[in-house]
Amino acid sequence: MSCWPATAVSGDWVASTRRLVAEVRTYPDPASLAIAAAKRFVTLAALAIAERGRFSVALSGGSSPKAMHALLATGEFANHVDWSLVHLFWGDERCVPPDHPGSNYRMARETLIDHVPLPASNVHRILGEMEAERAAQIYSTELNTFFGGEWPSFDLVLLGLGKDGHTASLFPGSAVLHERARPAVAVTAHYQDRPACRVTLTPPAINAAQQVLFLAAGAAKAEIVRAVLQGPAGQYPAQLIQPATGRLAWMVDAPAASQLQERA
Ligand code: 6PG
Repeated sequence: MSCWPATAVSGDWVASTRRLVAEVRTYPDPASLAIAAAKRFVTLAALAIAERGRFSVALSGGSSPKAMHALLATGEFANHVDWSLVHLFWGDERCVPPDHPGSNYRMARETLIDHVPLPASNVHRILGEMEAERAAQIYSTELNTFFGGEWPSFDLVLLGLGKDGHTASLFPGSAVLHERARPAVAVTAHYQDRPACRVTLTPPAINAAQQVLFLAAGAAKAEIVRAVLQGPAGQYPAQLIQPATGRLAWMVDAPAASQLQERA
């Protein structure tokens, strides 16, 4: 993970010695954040399809991506994506059946997949209904096959941020934070009232992406957004996300950005 000297938050860029280098864009409210994220999804899809003939994206769980999904499902955005060439994966999944209320797949199906002409074969869900280790092995094999035997390199990984600084199912203190050999592993993590058993992409699988995009909204995330982006490095799992060669961007609404320090 490379870091740069702490300089300033100027405009859309944050540069820091001890902190992440990331493109940070703020938006007045969740609606404008969702619009911007949907536009970036459409743009990245077009670029990937033009360059590689397909667009591989790992979706995030949680509530943050829902508004973006809903916009992507509308004609205004959906009509600008060649869904036949889009392949959906997940950054993490809870160990629940696909129709369970806690399923990240179910959330994506209800808000996006059911509303766009995406071939069923392009949906690469984590089999939450299976025993976690087995589901992680199957997902890793599917990733290996999809990426032609090479280490997975998604065109886009979408991520949320928990108030404890977790992302995907990479939680503070978890051994998975040090995983370097496998792209996906089973973990147990207790967070709010969500299912504890999960399968998650590992940091090196996320960091091999062409573009990683964090979405964070709401005043409740303000302190953790500041701590992750402008606090000391090495404190939170989200700080491990620093793509090796790809781009890292944070899209946050004004309430979530309210504690970021602007410096001259
Ligand atoms: C999950 C998500 C998780 C989520 C954060 C933020 O499976 O729960 O992948 O990493 O993105 O917990 O969740 P909210 O967007 O609901 O705040």
